[in-house]
Amino acid sequence: YSKVISIQDIPAFRSRSEEFFPLEWYKRMLHDHPVYYHEATDTWNVFRYEDVKQVLSNHQLFSSEGERTAIAVGAKNKEGGIPDKINLTLKDPPESTRRRSLISAAFTPRALDNWEPRIRQIANKLVEDMKPEGPIDLVQTLAAPLPSMVMADLFGVPTDDSALFKNWVDILFQPLEKGSEQETELRKMSAAKQYYEYLYPIVVRKRTDPADDIISDLLKVDIEGERFTDDEVVRTTMLLLGAGVETTSHMLASLFYSLLYDDAQLFGQLRDDQGLVPQTVDEMLRYRFHISKRDRTVKQDTDALGVEMKKGDVVIAWMSAANMDEHMFADPFTLDIHRGNSKKHLTFGNGPHFCLGGPLARLELNLALTAFLQRFRGIEPVAFDLEKSLVTSAPGQSLTRLPMRAVQ
Ligand code: HEM
Repeated sequence: YSKVISIQDIPAFRSRSEEFFPLEWYKRMLHDHPVYYHEATDTWNVFRYEDVKQVLSNHQLFSSEGERTAIAVGAKNKEGGIPDKINLTLKDPPESTRRRSLISAAFTPRALDNWEPRIRQIANKLVEDMKPEGPIDLVQTLAAPLPSMVMADLFGVPTDDSALFKNWVDILFQPLEKGSEQETELRKMSAAKQYYEYLYPIVVRKRTDPADDIISDLLKVDIEGERFTDDEVVRTTMLLLGAGVETTSHMLASLFYSLLYDDAQLFGQLRDDQGLVPQTVDEMLRYRFHISKRDRTVKQDTDALGVEMKKGDVVIAWMSAANMDEHMFADPFTLDIHRGNSKKHLTFGNGPHFCLGGPLARLELNLALTAFLQRFRGIEPVAFDLEKSLVTSAPGQSLTRLPMRAVQ
């Protein structure tokens, strides 16, 4: 990819808070401009459920291979690069399917069962360490550390080093903001180098002394003679961190924000019936996850979306907007954990590139919320300035802090 599309320019939100919860914009685009050409970025933008689904899944027409993208991954030095053999997200089937099968060897249902107690332990520990005498910052205490601690544990590296991990990940996958691209690129390269030098010896050690973890599983993969080298395993962990840490952190923080500010009754209902947790998590993925958008490149001239698109055109699929399409979800702008089809959200994508870590992300979210519900009877908002507590993430706005009172 040579060019990165500045996706923030498309909606031109007036504030960070508006971008954090852009329902008014979705409403307008869904009704007035469901297929919208944006001149400055030279992109098509689609919002409706069926259109978004088609753009994500019909790889004959909408390709993951192209000249431009909105998603910048990794860093430009040799340590930060994601080699061709691994980079499944930028390829179409059958090539992406072959690459995907290599990585998915580490994401079997059996692996997920083994991981559950480990993730529960991390979630319980973080919740036990909270000090409810004063306001708790949910981001600092749970949403920010949990996903990188989980990944560090599942990779089989010491949990003590997860703060280092989080720091590298934050830098590596920071979006390039206008004006500071060069500076950010340098920081990314430095983080990539440090991460690489930290992880490589761990991978080499696991080659001769494997354990029950993702790195050892990746080292064991052998699909018709295709195997990973030590170098490729390090880079695969980088790809997984990029895909799985910020996304899950963002969702955890947004979920608690929603419990505080969208529906004050919901926490009590969940506390009294923890069986409602999984459907709550999926409704939150539909209603409160607004960093989900992906691009594809038109593979051949087509009018499949009702307008003439030319080969080479870039199409951006706004999944979080599709999650608000009334043709799919009744009364879409309302949070309703009982709607029954929340799971149909497109937050994890659709088709051949459907999120490989979806079950893991759901597990982390379920276990984190459950751990919290088991310790605390209630939560109350603590006044804070939302606008000043948001930061540009990839690509959207994420909470940097979320103060609240927890009642034991
Ligand atoms: C792909 C979302 C967590 C690993 C994707 C895609 C989306 C997505 C939308 C599809 C990209 C496309 O169609 O081009 C999310 C969200 C998460 C999450 C919302 C959390 C709330 C995770 C986790 C992992 C992970 C925890 C693993 C550690 C991947 C991988 C891909 C992917 C490897 C690439 C799949 C492919 O291209 O075939 N994710 N993800 N994700 N995700 Fe996730």
